[in-house]
Order: sequence, then C-alpha cells, then structure tokens
Amino acid sequence: MKEIRFRFGTVSSRVIFQQRIEPEDLAAPGGVLTVFDTHTWRLFGRSRVSRAAGSVVLPAGERSKTWRGAGRVLSAAARRGLGRDGLIAGIGGGVVCDLAAFCASLYMRGCSLTLVPTTLLAMVDAALGGKTGVDLPGAKNMAGTFYPAGEIRIVPAALASLPDRELRSGLAEAAKNALLGDADLLATLERGRGRLLDREPDLLEDVVERCIRVKGAVVEEDFREQGRRAILNLGHTFGHALEAATGFRRYTHGEAVAWGLKMALRLGERLGVTPPEHARRVERLLESYGFDLHPWTGAPEKLLAAMQADKKKREGRLRFVLQRGVGDTLVQPVEEERVWELLAAERRPPTAAPAGRTGDGTGS
Ligand code: GLY
Repeated sequence: MKEIRFRFGTVSSRVIFQQRIEPEDLAAPGGVLTVFDTHTWRLFGRSRVSRAAGSVVLPAGERSKTWRGAGRVLSAAARRGLGRDGLIAGIGGGVVCDLAAFCASLYMRGCSLTLVPTTLLAMVDAALGGKTGVDLPGAKNMAGTFYPAGEIRIVPAALASLPDRELRSGLAEAAKNALLGDADLLATLERGRGRLLDREPDLLEDVVERCIRVKGAVVEEDFREQGRRAILNLGHTFGHALEAATGFRRYTHGEAVAWGLKMALRLGERLGVTPPEHARRVERLLESYGFDLHPWTGAPEKLLAAMQADKKKREGRLRFVLQRGVGDTLVQPVEEERVWELLAAERRPPTAAPAGRTGDGTGS
C-alpha cells in the first residue's frame, strides 16, 4: 500500500493507494455516513462498506451539488446521530467529493472526512487540496470552504469501469498537472496515449500519483489560494466559461479544460509570453486524445460574460494563468479586448455537429 502525506494549512492529508475499500477504512467512533451518487451506489453500494455505515445516495451529476443536496447529506448525518467525532465519507466523482467535503466542513462545525474518488478527474484534482463547494444558479463552486480530507483513498481499479469519455476528461486535467510541473508526465501522456486509453493499470496509477504530487506541492505552498495556488486554474477561466455558456450540459469538465488549455496558451502566445512551439506541442497532445479544440460557435461576448464570475478576478479585471513553458507559469491581468480578439479568431463556424451530453465533473 503506497501512501503520500501532505500538510494543507494545519491539517495533514494522507493519500493512500489501495486495492479495495474495506469497512475498517471508513470507521470513526462517532459513526459513519457514506455519500454516493446513483452511479457509484450501483457499483460499490452493495459492498460491506456501505452495509457497515449509513448511506445517502444522490442523483448522479452536477445537479446534486446544491444547497438542497447538501441539506440531504447534513440531515442524513443528523438522523444517523453522527457525533463530532463522526466521519462523512464521499465515494464518487468530483460532485460527490466536493459536496461530501462541504458537508463535513459544516456538520457540527467540522467532522472527519474521507474521500474515495472513483473517477480519474476526482483522483487527480477534486479530492485533493481541500476545496469544497456547491454551485449557485449559473455559477459553479460559488459557495464553499477549505476543508481537506484527512484521508483520500485511491482505488485505481475503480477506473476500469469508467466510461471512455470520463477517462479522457480526467486525462485533460492530468495534462494540466503535467504542464504545471512534471515534464516526464507530459512525455508519458504523449508516448503512452494508447496504453492509457486501454487503461493499463500501472501506467494509469503512475499518472494519478504524479498528478497528486504536482497538485499537492502547490497546495502545500498556498493552501488558501492567496497567490500561487491560482496556477491550478490553468485553462479553467476559458473552460469554466465554456461550461457555463453551454449550460453545463454539453461538455464534460475535462473537455472544457482541454479547450481552455489551448486557449490559455494561445492567449499567452498573443501576449508574447508563450513560445509558439510550446503551444503547438500541447495542441498536438490534446488533439491526439480526440478533444474538440474548436467547440465554441457563439458570440465572444457570451463567453466574456461567463468569465465575469471567475474567482481570480481582482479590482474588476480578469486575470489569466499563462505559461512560458512546462513548470513556468504566471497569473496576470489581461485586457478584455485581447481576450475578445482571441475568442473571435478561434470561433468555429456554426456548421459542425453538436457534442454529446456531460457526465459527472467538477473543478474549481
Ligand atoms: N482545482 C483547483 C484547486 O484545487 O485549486
């Protein structure tokens, strides 16, 4: 069993890689409440783990990440008589992880929290680093807390049953982590495409571990996002805007982030920050995984309006995460006009076929 330890603020977070989850992994003196969504309940809900604990099962997808969803979890914890020394355990993708963590941060002003991320996206991003949240109408993750899980239990075998589209979605977030600080991981994603899409277990586990190390190091440095942590939003200002402008239904979070990475690097190129060869290399990688790099057919103004909800905004100005190269990332304000020009240049003529529906995804 492999274990990585991080210190996030005053809390220590253990990431544990394991073959399966056993009831003793989710135990606490004050009782346990497991949180599933309908997908993860079907896959894992009949296990000994859920029989040993009380469970709440939420509808799968972003629609559960609301005050109402949080109310259901908190009421279930109270009905079960969970004490302050009780444990809320989220077993699922990003939505379940964010929501379970949000509820653990509120229940009796904070109870124990374990997360068992079951999607690649949640393993490499949502479960680690203590961001919790619910969505407000039209704006993802608008209300939330910082509350790291004491334990994050990673079961790589859970990836075997992940739909292809969700796997690719997680690989976009993995590409972001590679760009932020792991050149070897970037090369692995380039060379190992076939083996990763075939879900070769050792390679997938290696990717997950490397991503966790990149993200964990950034969060250890700046847990409450006073500065450096914002780099974890590389590609996300564009990506979130695309998700919001398409009603959070057309693109998965990873698909939106893949496009966002391309746009952030192109913006950097226009501003003289990003070398063209770096931008082209990343575009080739994203294309090789089948991401649509021209998903937006609408007016630039609609995306710019969606960007106004971006949490990196300061003094009314949009700020973007830009890159000079792998591991060389900065955050800087950019004039809206420059962003508008890029959006207009990258818009696809409105003739192409619409993309499909999204699954569970999140990201803050
Ligand atoms: N997902 C970005 C962060 O955790 O800061």
